[in-house]
Amino acid sequence: MSTNITWHAGNISREEREKLLGYKGLTIWFTGLSASGKSTLASALEHQLLTLGVPSYRLDGDNIRFGLNKDLGFGPKDREENIRRIAEVAKLFADSTAIAITSFISPYRSDRDAARKLHEDSGIPFVEVFVDAPLEVVEKRDPKGLYKKAKAGEIKEFTGISAPYEAPISPEIHIRTDQIAVEEGVKILVDYLVNQKHLK
Ligand code: PPS
Repeated sequence: MSTNITWHAGNISREEREKLLGYKGLTIWFTGLSASGKSTLASALEHQLLTLGVPSYRLDGDNIRFGLNKDLGFGPKDREENIRRIAEVAKLFADSTAIAITSFISPYRSDRDAARKLHEDSGIPFVEVFVDAPLEVVEKRDPKGLYKKAKAGEIKEFTGISAPYEAPISPEIHIRTDQIAVEEGVKILVDYLVNQKHLK
């Protein structure tokens, strides 16, 4: 617990920063089972936004666990701390006027709700995207062989097998990756951003 600390507001507000740079920051929060297609969609969206000249940056589950969160495992408390840190980092990117794109399983509703609150309390839009594919489908995809290992008991607390996944109740966007192609998914996302006036 940090004590004797004081918040320093700096000389420029987010509104002024947005006006000067011409972009509005926000966070797009992908959630879904392992192998549901979060990273694929997030990468494709990041590429599309950058091609349009929109500053955006992706934070990805596996990658962040190599560095910032390498001290965390997969028990509920560690996942909570994982998501708490990512939410803080995403908020910083969004505050800088970038579009932060996060792709984490983020299996617990309360953790995602806390991430949303952190953003909305600061007036930063938070867009939750449910990347949805049935368990049978992701088990079949199993690109890293993790479901096979989890079912054999070689990985403990594996989401969908031996740990819960609490699906979003009212996400801003719901994408069925077993029913539509990546390009269609990206179009849904970009259209949403334009309709909501997050993008010009
Ligand atoms: S979480 O639940 O949001 O904290 O997880 P996340 O940080 O997104 O990390 C998920 C990636 O870690 C690998 N992995 C596991 N996932 C789920 N459960 C267990 N026990 C586990 N162990 C390792 C796996 O590669 C996940 O990546 P994705 O991209 O989701 O497949």
